[in-house]
Amino acid sequence: MQFIESLNTLRELRQSWRNADHTVAFVPTMGNLHDGHLDLVKQAKNLADKVVVSIFVNPMQFGANEDLDAYPRTLDADRSKLEAHDVDALFFPAVDDVYPRGLSEQTFVEVPGISDLLCGASRPGHFRGVATIVCKLFNMVQPDVACFGEKDFQQLQVIRTMVEDLSMPINIVGVPTRRQEDGLAMSSRNGYLSAEQRTTATQIYAAMEQMRKAICARQDSYADIERIASQSLMAAGLKPEYVTIRNARNLQPAEPGDYQLVILMAAFMGTTRLIDNMQITLDQA
Ligand code: PAF
Repeated sequence: MQFIESLNTLRELRQSWRNADHTVAFVPTMGNLHDGHLDLVKQAKNLADKVVVSIFVNPMQFGANEDLDAYPRTLDADRSKLEAHDVDALFFPAVDDVYPRGLSEQTFVEVPGISDLLCGASRPGHFRGVATIVCKLFNMVQPDVACFGEKDFQQLQVIRTMVEDLSMPINIVGVPTRRQEDGLAMSSRNGYLSAEQRTTATQIYAAMEQMRKAICARQDSYADIERIASQSLMAAGLKPEYVTIRNARNLQPAEPGDYQLVILMAAFMGTTRLIDNMQITLDQA
């Protein structure tokens, strides 16, 4: 695996692959890799001749009250995992190379509407930071295909919208969420949980399962299903930020005629904010 810090070196490698007619799959990450990330790598390997993974803790997507410095940086361990998965290149750019004029002078990409809902409402500017760095990384790596986790469902929809709106010639592939045996979605943030909090956090998946059953039974209103799930999370000791049933395409509140649905949740376990989702396709009865 090549370890690349400079954009020029990355561009030379990309050109050599282009000359040899190799296709390229890309997995952007912020490091601290777990099995969920490695699922993205495995999927990427199935989709192209060469795989590039980036590790860049993007300051532009962190809010003023979010601790960028505390974000776990585990480069040596990440590097070994990627080597073991036969990744062709790990791109690890420095912040000053990515944002040479600083953040306040940086041109940005804003995906309107969808960026302002749900996680975007409680983390203003977050999806602008995500869209901007993903756009920049796409221009640097120039992949044919890029893989993102469905765990960050809203992020995936923001990126799909950006790619469509800006006519980027990149195929965006969503990869299903990797879960622990008890249902907890894998996330770098799980590392912040105590053993007791970790157990309580499994209620998120349990609540989504209950919601899925209730939605499929078509007896209660979506508002009632959301309220009951919210109450069960609170009773377990979590603090829900949102529990909602949405149209999976545009993330607007689901309406009776919608068949592609997604349950989306964000909840605090102590000071750790966890998100999860479950997609549902209803029979068109
Ligand atoms: O999902 C992430 O890890 C990040 O938001 C991403 C897509 C790598 C952009 O920094």
